[in-house]
Parts: sequence; structure tokens; C-alpha cells
Amino acid sequence: MANVINRTVESVTGWFNDRTPGLIPAYKKHMSEYYAPKNFNLWYYFGSLAILVLVNQIVTGIFLTMHYKPSAAEAFASVEYIMRDVEWGWLIRYMHSTGASMFFVVVYLHMFRGLVYGSYQKPRELVWVLGVMIFLVLMAEAFMGYVLPWGQMSYWGAQVIINLFGAIPVVGNGLTEWIRGDYLVADATLNRFFALHVIALPLVLLLLVVLHLGALHEVGSNNPEGVDIKKVKDKATGIPKDGIPFHPYYTVKDLFGAGFFLILFAFIVFFAPTMGGWFLEWDNFIEADPLVTPAHIKPVWYFTPFYAMLRAIPDKLFGVIVMGGATMILFALPWLDRCKVKSIRYRPMLHKILITIFVVAFVVLGWLGAQTGSDTQKLVAQILTAYYFAFFLLMPIWSAMGQTKAVPERVPEHD
Ligand code: HEM
Repeated sequence: MANVINRTVESVTGWFNDRTPGLIPAYKKHMSEYYAPKNFNLWYYFGSLAILVLVNQIVTGIFLTMHYKPSAAEAFASVEYIMRDVEWGWLIRYMHSTGASMFFVVVYLHMFRGLVYGSYQKPRELVWVLGVMIFLVLMAEAFMGYVLPWGQMSYWGAQVIINLFGAIPVVGNGLTEWIRGDYLVADATLNRFFALHVIALPLVLLLLVVLHLGALHEVGSNNPEGVDIKKVKDKATGIPKDGIPFHPYYTVKDLFGAGFFLILFAFIVFFAPTMGGWFLEWDNFIEADPLVTPAHIKPVWYFTPFYAMLRAIPDKLFGVIVMGGATMILFALPWLDRCKVKSIRYRPMLHKILITIFVVAFVVLGWLGAQTGSDTQKLVAQILTAYYFAFFLLMPIWSAMGQTKAVPERVPEHD
């Protein structure tokens, strides 16, 4: 029986390989003969989970598009229609809205992993740079998606964010009008955001993800120890001694992660889809009204750290520069870090402390960005914003300080 199956598989794959000669070599290069370090841990789940969420967003998005009406007059009602009348519409919509937030949970944890294991260092600079590009496109995608239900926060959030471009000298006013397609956020704005959200940006995202993985597989994965597994290869086979084939080892591991993630995901979708107002804000269950401003306009949680930075700066233009700069500076990370070792495990205590404070500062900024913004909160936000920038700008100095531990040749046994 096994023989028959083997022969059938071989003849089918052979048939395909004769007609598309790149297919099987590509499968080997990226799966069965992609030798990944044997010591991946929990932090290495988030890349494959990001792919899973991306697929979820695309599939649920296609079904939402079948019933959604991209017009200011009908958008809000069409979402209510999806929620109440379309068969399983509520499930599709909550999978999409929960997916948006979970995308950022997964991507933030994925970036954190890169930071603590120094995965952005040589030779993976391009992997990181493409990752930052993905992050920026993802933010634009999420922002435009949030406008589509045409609730109060969709409308006023769009108003606030688009108006930021007005701070740019000379061209500012013309630019905001050009983005909106009208003198205020209106039907034309909703139409173009719909087009960008459902086709233009997803295409760019998909392309960037392919390039991201292509760049990674060219140089190979880093690992929690920061050991370069390519340095020690088996003489006969040329395979890294600390490497294991991605398939089946990591396909199985990633499947386990996906299962765990989907249980959590289902729990949120079924029991807490609004997450207490963090994933879907209360004001967005009220239809957009250009004449009534909500008492407290704030973005969804994944934007709040950057929003807190914007509000911390009294001058509008400078605030916009700081907010934009906070994301742009991520591009420079591979060249700011002068540390000889990659992983936090071999770095001096000073680095561990500074990175920990950085993470705490970012989370607190996220909380502050969701608050009304009292004077004390503004002051704290200013201090934390200063820390955020100092962390990066002074990195060439502090990352070269302190005594690093010697990185072993091979992945140590405890891993
Ligand atoms: C749609 C979003 C993204 C997807 C689907 C994605 C996918 C992946 C996958 C599948 C891997 C290999 C598995 C793993 O190491 O976890 C990976 C590695 C990596 N990603 Fe992403 N990624 C995304 C966003 C980002 C972002 C925003 C950044 C950073 C700004 C980033 C930086 C990296 C780095 C540095 C690696 C190499 C890690 C290592 O080898 O230690 N990625 N990505």
C-alpha cells in the first residue's frame, strides 16, 4: 500500500515538475531543505501566525465585501445588515475585526522577538527593513478599514488623522483636500478608502510578505542564541549541524501554535469581540454624524502609543514629525545597534535594563494614548516619548558599552 502511494505521489510530482520546473526546487529550498536552527522557541510562532491572520483577513474580507456598501448613505446600515441578516454575517465580521487587532498583537510580539534576539543585525537587515515596510502598510490598511463601517469613531478618527497633513507648511491644506476628495470627510473619502483597503494595500502587503520571506530564506533564520548555524556544517552533506528541515519539524510546530492561537481567537470572537471597547469602540456603534463630535476621539489600541506621542507635543507640525519619526526610526535599527552579539542572552545587564524600560515605556504610551490627556498624563507622555527616541538615537553609544558574554560555536544543549 505504502509503495503504491509513494509511486503515485512521485508520478504526480514528476508530472508537475516536467511542466513547471521551478515548483519542486522551490518547495525544497523553502520547506524540506530549508535548514532552520533547531532551537526555535515560543517567540518563533509569530511569523507563521502573522501569515495565518493575513489569510483570515483576506478570506473574511472577501465575504464582507459581498454585502458591504461603500457609500456614506448605506455603509453603516450595510454593516448592521451583515450583523443581523446575513447568514453567519456576525461571525465573518467579528472574525475580521478581531483579526485586525490580533494582527497587531502578533506583529508587535514578532517585532519584539526581533529586538531581543537582534534578528535585524547583519545579514538580516533587509528582512527587518521589509518588516518595517509591512508594519507601515499594515497601519494604513487598518486605519482605512476602520473608516469603512462609517460609525462615529470611523468618521472623526479619519477627520483627525487626515487633518494632521494640514500641519505641513504650504501644501498642507491642498493635501488634506486631495486625500479626502472633498472639503470634509465624505462619500468620496469612503469610496477611495474602500478601494485602497480591499485591493491596493492587500496586494502591497502580500508582495512585501513574499519579499520578507524571500530575504529571510536567502540568509537563513536567526535563533534565540544568536548562534550562526551556517558556521558549523556537516562535512559530507554540507547541512548545518544545528539545523533541522523546516518541513516536517517546524510545519508541525507551527501547526500546534496555530491551534493554540485559534482557540484564543475563537474565545475572543465568541465571548468578547469588542474587548471592552479596545477592539471595537463603543462610539463606533453609532452612525457617523458630521454635526456631532464624540466627547473623546481616540484611535484603536494599536495606534495609541504613537497617538500619545503626537498629543505630547504642543506644536502640531512638530507633533506630526515626532509621530512619523517614531515609526521611521525603526528602519535605522540595524545600523544603530553596535553590539557584537545578537541575542539578549549574551548582552550586558545595561542592555537588558534599557530594552525592558523601552518596552514598558511603549506599553504605558499605549495606555496614555487611550486616555483623555490630563496635564500629568501629557507630562508622562513627554518623558516617555523622549525615552523612546533616546533609546534609538543613543543606541550607537550604549549598545557598544558593557561586557558581552562569549557566544558559543554551537547551539548549547539546554536549548
Ligand atoms: C504581515 C506581517 C508579517 C508576516 C506575515 C511575517 C512573517 C514572517 C515569518 C513567517 C518569519 C519566519 C518565522 C519567524 O521567524 O517567526 C519572519 C521572520 C522575521 N520577521 Fe516577519 N513578518 C511580518 C512582519 C514583520 C515585521 C513588522 C517585522 C519588523 C519590523 C518583521 C521582522 C522579521 C525578522 C527580523 C525576522 C527574522 C527573525 C529571525 O530569524 O530571528 N516581520 N517573518
